[in-house]
Amino acid sequence: MIIIKAKDYQDMSRKAANMISAQIIMKPDCVLGLATGSTPLGIYSQLTDWFRKGDLDFAKVSTVNLDEYRGLPRESKQSYYYFMHENFFRHINIRKDSTIIPNGRDMNISSACEAHEQAIQSLGGVDLQLLGLGYNGHIGFNEPGEAFEKETHCVDLTPCTIDANARFFASREDVPTQAYTMGIKSIMQAGKILIAVSGEDKAEITARAFWGPVTPKVPASILQMHPDVTLIADEAALSLSPVTVKQ
Ligand code: F6R
Repeated sequence: MIIIKAKDYQDMSRKAANMISAQIIMKPDCVLGLATGSTPLGIYSQLTDWFRKGDLDFAKVSTVNLDEYRGLPRESKQSYYYFMHENFFRHINIRKDSTIIPNGRDMNISSACEAHEQAIQSLGGVDLQLLGLGYNGHIGFNEPGEAFEKETHCVDLTPCTIDANARFFASREDVPTQAYTMGIKSIMQAGKILIAVSGEDKAEITARAFWGPVTPKVPASILQMHPDVTLIADEAALSLSPVTVKQ
């Protein structure tokens, strides 16, 4: 695992965007695995900036998103579909039909999950997967449990995740209780993984995920087993981690 220490959120966003932009330059028709949440906002904004300056071209890029709430229509402002279009896709020259997000409107769990897996396979797999880290160690919506879930599946969100995501909804009661998410196997099959983490409130889980035992109780800990993982974290997020890392 490569660990890159950033000064703060902005520096983390820039460093992570640099890695994604290198991927696009090296392979213009690459497949990017994308995440939502607060962490990647700065990364998407930096990539948008470089696109506007003419330094990046998304015309041949495809994207696959990790997850989506089950039952939320695309038009809902809290859907991850809406998030991705508002915060990234509508600002760049990516083809709309090259952006794949689990279909939250499909209430049939097996058809929604199979469709997402098939879409990933038909693109030939993910070249670079961007991840954020949940407070409980989740990646995508793979919540702590007794075993690592494999492919795209439906999850019951934990109270911790519902609390964390309530900030995007009018009230906690409005947060959907289920989501579709790529599984650990689908994530681990990516050629490269980039996990971005920021903030003191992520310091404890960062130390447990990357320096603790590999266990499904901390889903992100499985990343220690991937051959090409880069953790880009700011000083605050690394403040409880026991190593000296590259600046
Ligand atoms: C969202 C996702 C989640 C988030 C995680 C961290 O697509 O995959 O695993 O990355 O919950 O969220 P933030 O960045 O909001 O702290």
